[in-house]
Amino acid sequence: MDCFIIEGPSKIDGEVEISGSKNSSLAILFATLLTDEKCILNNVPELVDIKTTYKILSYTGKNCFFGFNRFEVEEKSNIITEAPYDLVRKMRASVLVAGPMLARFKYAKFSMPGGCAIGTRPIDMHLEGFKRLGAEISMEEGYVILKSRKLKPAVIKLRFPSVGATENLMMAASLIEGKTVIKNAAREPEIEDLASVLNKMGARVYGAGSDTITVYGVKKLNGFTHTVIPDRIEAQTFMILGAMCGRVRLKNIVAKHCRTLINKLKKSGASVKIVDDYLEVSKGRNIKAVNIKTEPYPGFPTDIQAQWMAYMCLCNWKAKITETIFENRFMHVAELNRMGAIISVKGNTATVVGVKNLIGATVMISDLRAGAGLILAALSAFGRSKIRRVYHIDRGYERIEMKLSKLGANIKRIEE
Ligand code: UD1
Repeated sequence: MDCFIIEGPSKIDGEVEISGSKNSSLAILFATLLTDEKCILNNVPELVDIKTTYKILSYTGKNCFFGFNRFEVEEKSNIITEAPYDLVRKMRASVLVAGPMLARFKYAKFSMPGGCAIGTRPIDMHLEGFKRLGAEISMEEGYVILKSRKLKPAVIKLRFPSVGATENLMMAASLIEGKTVIKNAAREPEIEDLASVLNKMGARVYGAGSDTITVYGVKKLNGFTHTVIPDRIEAQTFMILGAMCGRVRLKNIVAKHCRTLINKLKKSGASVKIVDDYLEVSKGRNIKAVNIKTEPYPGFPTDIQAQWMAYMCLCNWKAKITETIFENRFMHVAELNRMGAIISVKGNTATVVGVKNLIGATVMISDLRAGAGLILAALSAFGRSKIRRVYHIDRGYERIEMKLSKLGANIKRIEE
């Protein structure tokens, strides 16, 4: 298993190119199941989750080619409408096979995604939505089976703006003739990116980015060529790095996708400069305590909570961090405390009392974004840190050690 050795504190100063969005790529790649035509997706990051998607699509019978951030999908044989346990257990987003398979083949069988480190993460909203579209749902040996003789458009109101449920239902509705409305839909930029792909494929999707999405589905969808939006979570991780350890200039970024974080960074005393095609974040004189509460987009992203916590470890007073999206997303707290942080947790709120500096330690990553938080902490800390279970990071950050080294970090990947 790989781990990172980081010698801190790092003096970070330089430019970083942000990769394409992981979450956008995943949804769009599963949308290729909606058509038998060739699909081309550019700016796809080279990540373990993308490789898992490659395996799932290949398992179904699609021919995939992936290299130099370009992903091509073709269909030469019959599709197997199934996603097996071994692949689904590696990535919850595999559940996105369901909408496209159900809509195109009137049948889908996929392993129920298990619980994972950051919470139980049920899929009841996905299933409830499929039911409203006319699917029958059954369970067999840990697999969910969706069947229907004829699907029908519907008005679906989600009880919470789930990103995955919104995507699954948009994809299914695109291949069901008539008008489907999704209310209380997720508003994330990745939903808009998926909508523009579905529109290129021939569906008519309106309102993506707002809380009501209307989909006029069609009988057959075409192939597409598309370029994925920049990864706003990777971008925001590097922005916090700049505020913590020096200065980072980010290229290939959409600043408006990061607006909530930018406001919080400014409040904390960091400087944020937005120029035509780049954005620059530099450390302020001292780090002011700023509370955050995670919320669905455009609120503060849950995927940036751990990184903000690492930053607030160095604040001048006391900051409160409230997690409202996932019930068990504070596993980095114990690890940060091992580096000299002072953090206590009560219910879904963590209180961080700022310290002058963190101290290097051996820590273990529990999940992808917790890992990003620990790397930021180690880069700012005095001394040597060993960060174990880097495989979580490889799911979502493309060539992270190369990007960090180029910015001035002293980071090495070693095999344990
Ligand atoms: C997506 C992102 C993930 C991000 C999350 C929230 C992808 C691949 N992943 O995950 O990085 O952290 O959005 O911004 O895009 N829930 C239910 N029932 C459901 C569906 C969800 O109770 O049917 C709950 C989940 O357990 C969670 C919350 O709703 O507590 C949000 O989940 P959701 O928005 O669906 O997240 P994902 O799509 O899994």
